[in-house]
Amino acid sequence: MTETVLVTGAAGFIGSHLVDDLIELGYRVLALDDLSGGYRDNVNEKATFVDGSIVDHDLLNRLFDEHRPKYVYHLAAYAAEGLSHFIRRFNYTNNLIGTMNVINAAVNYGAEHIVFTSSIAVYGSAPPPMTEDMMPHPEDPYGVAKFAVEQDLRMAWEMFGLPYTIFRPHNVYGERQNVADRYRNVIGIFMNQIMHGKSLTIFGDGKQSRGFTYIKDISPVLATAPINPAAKNQIFNLGADTPVTVNELVQVVGQVMGVTPDVRYLPARHEVVHAYAIHQKVRDAFDLAADAETPLMDGLQRMWPWVQQHGARKTPKFKAIEVMKNLPGVWLED
Ligand SMILES: NC(=O)c1ccc[n+]([C@@H]2O[C@H](COP(=O)([O-])OP(=O)(O)OC[C@H]3O[C@@H](n4cnc5c(N)ncnc54)[C@H](O)[C@@H]3O)[C@@H](O)[C@H]2O)c1
Repeated sequence: MTETVLVTGAAGFIGSHLVDDLIELGYRVLALDDLSGGYRDNVNEKATFVDGSIVDHDLLNRLFDEHRPKYVYHLAAYAAEGLSHFIRRFNYTNNLIGTMNVINAAVNYGAEHIVFTSSIAVYGSAPPPMTEDMMPHPEDPYGVAKFAVEQDLRMAWEMFGLPYTIFRPHNVYGERQNVADRYRNVIGIFMNQIMHGKSLTIFGDGKQSRGFTYIKDISPVLATAPINPAAKNQIFNLGADTPVTVNELVQVVGQVMGVTPDVRYLPARHEVVHAYAIHQKVRDAFDLAADAETPLMDGLQRMWPWVQQHGARKTPKFKAIEVMKNLPGVWLED
């Protein structure tokens, strides 16, 4: 019998690629998303799509009761890290309480494994490169919610025997990234700004660095975690090794799009300056080649035609900002 798996956040960027991988592996995929940040047409037509929220625990219970997913891949979240300071209540309701609904249902309906996409944000500004044995010290509500979920998953294992795998990805980019999100995903923001003929906006001096990660380097790893014994109850950093500064990124994006971008430097915001990680643990557990990383230029050359085909997008403002104090002014611009 074909096994059913549940993917939350399935219409999002990473979730939709994961759905493709799981279908390829022969699973029946139940794809849940409230379409707050994802797009229905991202979802593989072989999946069973449900438009609904993880905050709705009755819905989750009904879905688990009816479909009895063997594995749960929990990706649904509002992931605008920088904005999370200003939408604390929403952040914790959606990303933390919503996740508790998923974990409760996974326990109550006998799921055999849960995969969770945490984030490198749990490390805060610990000196890079980040390794899994560092004590997390998140510096924004998004990272706090991710870390709280990590702790809760450990307890759900100890109390109820629900095995888990936690991934801490970072700066993932590629086809289907939501370039309309003005609050996150610097590559998508840059591409959208160039398509609108606008200057690229950079917080601070652009010397902050990140490891930009091509989606297809990581989604198959997420997919196989439940069937990999070396991944049981483990936490893994996941992503590209090579740190790139935002100023360097401007050059590469410009080259791929065939333009010389204009840059508008804004006051620095409260953010981690250097965030990149060591990935030896995931490489060992999943038998990944050390040179398997897609170079930034290659990944962008795959992403750009997709973005071009889908065109520039409007960048709607988050409607219910809870704290206006210290909100970066650029987020209020039209
Ligand atoms: N993209 C990255 O670089 C990155 C890095 C670290 C961690 N992550 C994590 O990976 C996961 C996926 O991120 P992504 O980049 O694909 O973001 P995304 O916004 O493209 O996908 C998230 C999806 O979750 C959905 N969603 C949000 N709240 C929901 C709710 N209450 N109920 C149901 N669906 C809901 C959104 O509609 C969206 O489709 C997130 O948990 C994110 O925190 C992403």
